[in-house]
Amino acid sequence: MNAALTLTDVTLTHGDGPETVTALDDVSLVVEPGELVAIVGPSGSGKSSLLAVAGALTTPTSGSVRLGDVDLVAARPRERDAVRRDRIGFVFQSGNLVPALTAVDQVRLPMTFGRAREHRDPMELLAEVGMDHKARRRPHELSGGERQRVGIARALVTRPSLLLVDEPTSALDRQRGQDIVALLARETHEHGVATVMVTHDHGILSHCDRVLEMLDGRLGVHVA
Ligand SMILES: Nc1ncnc2c1ncn2[C@@H]1O[C@H](COP(=O)(O)OP(=O)(O)OP(=O)(O)O)[C@@H](O)[C@H]1O
Ligand SMILES: [Mg+2]
Repeated sequence: MNAALTLTDVTLTHGDGPETVTALDDVSLVVEPGELVAIVGPSGSGKSSLLAVAGALTTPTSGSVRLGDVDLVAARPRERDAVRRDRIGFVFQSGNLVPALTAVDQVRLPMTFGRAREHRDPMELLAEVGMDHKARRRPHELSGGERQRVGIARALVTRPSLLLVDEPTSALDRQRGQDIVALLARETHEHGVATVMVTHDHGILSHCDRVLEMLDGRLGVHVA
């Protein structure tokens, strides 16, 4: 059973005293299984912070984060790690690939630790992002956009119930960007994934079910 993501009154501050930065200011958000939500907003408004908190990479200063019935803030570290590994897929802007591994081994990596319920075929996934012909290449032999596409394949291999995607098309040309977002939308809708995608690319918003805007750490409805 796939699960909804629920953030309730989430605040995240960095530092203290006059230096305090409020990255997230009382953010509440529910993303249902099968829903693709886009987050837009200016640089520094808190978009990546939102993904980090939603994916239990960062503990919020206050508020609650749940994936289905699992409370990611209250969970013990071991449980939190297991949920992150087995049920959450991250796509980082830079791809975040392991330098020594070939593209196909990057995609295989999440399968080798963890106990995800289901795995997809790494070569098939590479083909879906148009990278099967470079399966044996290492990151330094790939362009920025190619790395990004390998990172997307890697995030999908465990069939996560929550997919968190930071600027997936920033290094891609228009057509490739459209193809990748169509793939993310298909995964989301066909497999009941709750997906949150940060983007600056207004050309891909038509693939999304909902568009929200971050402004100074606050989340609101995006008015096009
Ligand atoms: N570890 C940290 N320590 C202090 N401040 C931080 C830290 N991480 C993020 N911030 C601040 O929190 C705010 C939100 O940052 P965040 O990375 O979430 O922005 P963003 O919307 O993703 O921006 P961009 O579009 O440039 O990626 C910024 O003011 C940033 O400087
Ligand atoms: Mg960011």
